[in-house]
Amino acid sequence: MELPSLFARYRVELEEYLRSAIPQGGPALLYGMMRYHLGWEDEHGRPLAESAGKALRPTLCLWACQAMGADWRTALPAAAALELTHNFSLVHDDIQDSDSERRHRPTVWSVWGQPQAINAGDSLLILARLVMLGLEERGVAPAKVIEACRVLDETCLTMIEGQCLDIGFEDEREVTVDAYLDMIARKTGALLGTSLHLGALVAVDDEPQMKRLARCGHLLGLAFQIRDDILGVWGAADVTGKPVAADIRRRKKSLPLVYAMAVAQAEEHEQLLRVYSQGAPGDEDVSTVLQLLDGHRAYDYCQQMAQERVEQALAELATVDIEPTARRDFEAVAKFLLEREF
Ligand code: IPE
Ligand code: IPE
Ligand code: MG
Ligand code: MG
Repeated sequence: MELPSLFARYRVELEEYLRSAIPQGGPALLYGMMRYHLGWEDEHGRPLAESAGKALRPTLCLWACQAMGADWRTALPAAAALELTHNFSLVHDDIQDSDSERRHRPTVWSVWGQPQAINAGDSLLILARLVMLGLEERGVAPAKVIEACRVLDETCLTMIEGQCLDIGFEDEREVTVDAYLDMIARKTGALLGTSLHLGALVAVDDEPQMKRLARCGHLLGLAFQIRDDILGVWGAADVTGKPVAADIRRRKKSLPLVYAMAVAQAEEHEQLLRVYSQGAPGDEDVSTVLQLLDGHRAYDYCQQMAQERVEQALAELATVDIEPTARRDFEAVAKFLLEREF
């Protein structure tokens, strides 16, 4: 499945901007880990042809800026800051989740060890904050630059709250659907909401429009994370770049499992609790859980939940005055996020 064409519109200039933001000099290892994680180099520092991630957050930010009638290049520093913040979260998340692969490559910690991967993540985060200040060079008023920094920092804190809840869930016997939804709102919804918010903030002074776009991005983020949870259980390893049923093996309380726990009958419920309360599940346990999820049509339930959130996002966007072509671009991204396999 191809990325919608919107992603190609900004890709080259975004990458150029990101590359120019990485400091020259300093310990080669620190920035080498960064360039490796961003997909520009292999572990020996040899250049690679293509960057690794989808660049969803910066794409949404630049789209919002353009949709609000401004030159999207003005928002490049904010877009780069979002992508760096996201990548900070991934480098730390792979340590937290003990994941040895991301984007079909060994994770930073599995190449250089956890202590250095923490340094790589920390510096991505700090760089994100510094890069945002580049808005001023692009003519954005100082008060708006400060506001953009504040919004990003608050969002980053919210995202870490989400990570804290998510990791905490691993030790809880049971998690409700509502608690799960609150967790993903923080972990993922917040940064996607902020992606649209910052694009609009750079472009216009209209607060209500900014808020509507932020809500729209937030809802899209929930759908995106729910689809990610689906892929964490049913995704094909060669497409996702993660092991089969990775989230079951890691005993994650992601939506398929949270839902199954809520609807399972006594005996099945006991079975789930047993698998989720001991060490790493073996292949037999994994197939028991998969069968149970299928019996309760957990895939359909999750996909429906994601679909509803996309519909809510589009309803929110319907209240924002944008060109039909911009609306179609957003719709194509939303459709892709619901159907993606990676
Ligand atoms: C992965 O995000 C982490 C989640 C919030 C689910 P992406 O799927 O946007 O990651 P990349 O940057 O495209 O690899
Ligand atoms: C990714 O979360 C990190 C953040 C959203 C902050 P997950 O652990 O759910 O995502 P993947 O599956 O590793 O990309
Ligand atoms: Mg993870
Ligand atoms: Mg995680």
